[in-house]
Amino acid sequence: MAYLLALDQGTSSSRSILFDHLGNLIASAQQEFTQHFPLPGWVEHDAMEIWQSQLATMHQVLNKSGIQTQEIAAIGITNQRETTVVWHRKTGQPICRAIVWQDRRTADWCEDLRQQGYGKTIQEKTGLLLDPYFSATKIAWILRHVPEARSLAERGELAFGTVDSWLAYQLSGQTRHVTDVTNASRTMLWNIHTQQWDAELLDLFHIPRQLLPEVYPSTHDFGSTDLFGASIPIAGIAGDQQSALFGQACFHSGMAKNTYGTGCFTLLQTSGFCSQSQHGLISTSACQTDQHPQYALEGSVFIGGAVVQWLRDQLHLAPSATAIGELAASVEDSDGVVFVPAFAGLGAPYWDANARGAILGLHRGSSAAHIARAAIEAIAFQTAELLLAMQKDSPVPIIELRVDGGAASNDALLQFQADLLGIPVIRPKIIETTALGVAYLAGLQSGVYSAPEECASLWQEQQRFLPQISRAEATSRLQSWKNAVTRLL
Ligand code: G3P
Repeated sequence: MAYLLALDQGTSSSRSILFDHLGNLIASAQQEFTQHFPLPGWVEHDAMEIWQSQLATMHQVLNKSGIQTQEIAAIGITNQRETTVVWHRKTGQPICRAIVWQDRRTADWCEDLRQQGYGKTIQEKTGLLLDPYFSATKIAWILRHVPEARSLAERGELAFGTVDSWLAYQLSGQTRHVTDVTNASRTMLWNIHTQQWDAELLDLFHIPRQLLPEVYPSTHDFGSTDLFGASIPIAGIAGDQQSALFGQACFHSGMAKNTYGTGCFTLLQTSGFCSQSQHGLISTSACQTDQHPQYALEGSVFIGGAVVQWLRDQLHLAPSATAIGELAASVEDSDGVVFVPAFAGLGAPYWDANARGAILGLHRGSSAAHIARAAIEAIAFQTAELLLAMQKDSPVPIIELRVDGGAASNDALLQFQADLLGIPVIRPKIIETTALGVAYLAGLQSGVYSAPEECASLWQEQQRFLPQISRAEATSRLQSWKNAVTRLL
């Protein structure tokens, strides 16, 4: 029996999940860490706290499972993407807090660059739309604002990494500064066609080349860790959404998944073809297991499950996410209430960094339950908009949507999703597909699996949600949602 240890470092928590070679979940551990909101629109994490929480969950999972370190064939790292960490190469200490993907502090600068016409070049080279979401302007902000950062960076004394890179650095005893193509493709500095850091973009954002990690396919020898009594290879790295696409075994063009996490991310596998969206989606690198680049179309929504967290923590509507789900389920519909949770601006397909959230359609009879219901519906509406845009872009019909992430356990949400989309929504047996994806990648590199098809044969459907309302009704529901969104733009 071989075991694979997946590290899933997300926006809200660090998790470690141990799988056996059949993809069964053996043990898992999770630890939340602090979210810092120093100014409106700013979101930061303490990179050391991320590392410590990740390390703690690794120890917990090993203790819980009773598995010996020697029995673990490999580690895979999957992570919140774009979040920007800059650290001293010598000390391994971050020079400031990590700037999180949701952070909008560089919105005005992005707008200026767009006005100057840089959007097209950036889209052609990176597949991305010019937005503060991606790492480039966050790195530039750090170099501009943290004392001495620029001179240290130019002398090669600093390292930038997305969270995978940061964890690999710490795990490898501060010896490896690496990342994979899926994470590199989120920096807005990586040319997804040439598969190189792009000199013109480095110039534009004034970022020294020596700050950047080495980039490899998602299966690779990324080093090893000796922190657990025996050496374990780090054999897979992928950004969490691309990892989920892999874990859902969406290996062929036209296969799509949505992950209901802090945000919602729908990805459509386009394999070797890098298609450019005409409908507000981005092109991104998908997991690569050999020398052939793979691509996906992606729609990213910044606030998905986080809206439930907001109702719990800021509005104190109910003590837990489960209780909010129950509150939402206690009413048949939202009774005209529409909740647009644009707390971090709007991502695809609107891309408005300055939009802010709103609750519309309130009347004297509106209750907490209607607001909770509208919040859950907002998750489905946003995902529906992504998939509908994707259907317009995709040369191949999208016949079903595979789903995962925390909120995928909510049956009412998935039923509403299928109703809006008019296609089956499928929940797999293991909804931890983000972690599973990178476990597969690590297993492929370490010889546990011989080919991706072997991983695909392990994927199993748990439940299928079929559309139950007419297309006319779905269109009218979607129209009310779009009307509400339009009022915020
Ligand atoms: O692009 C951001 C994404 O990777 C964050 O994912 O699961 O932490 O919301 P999650």
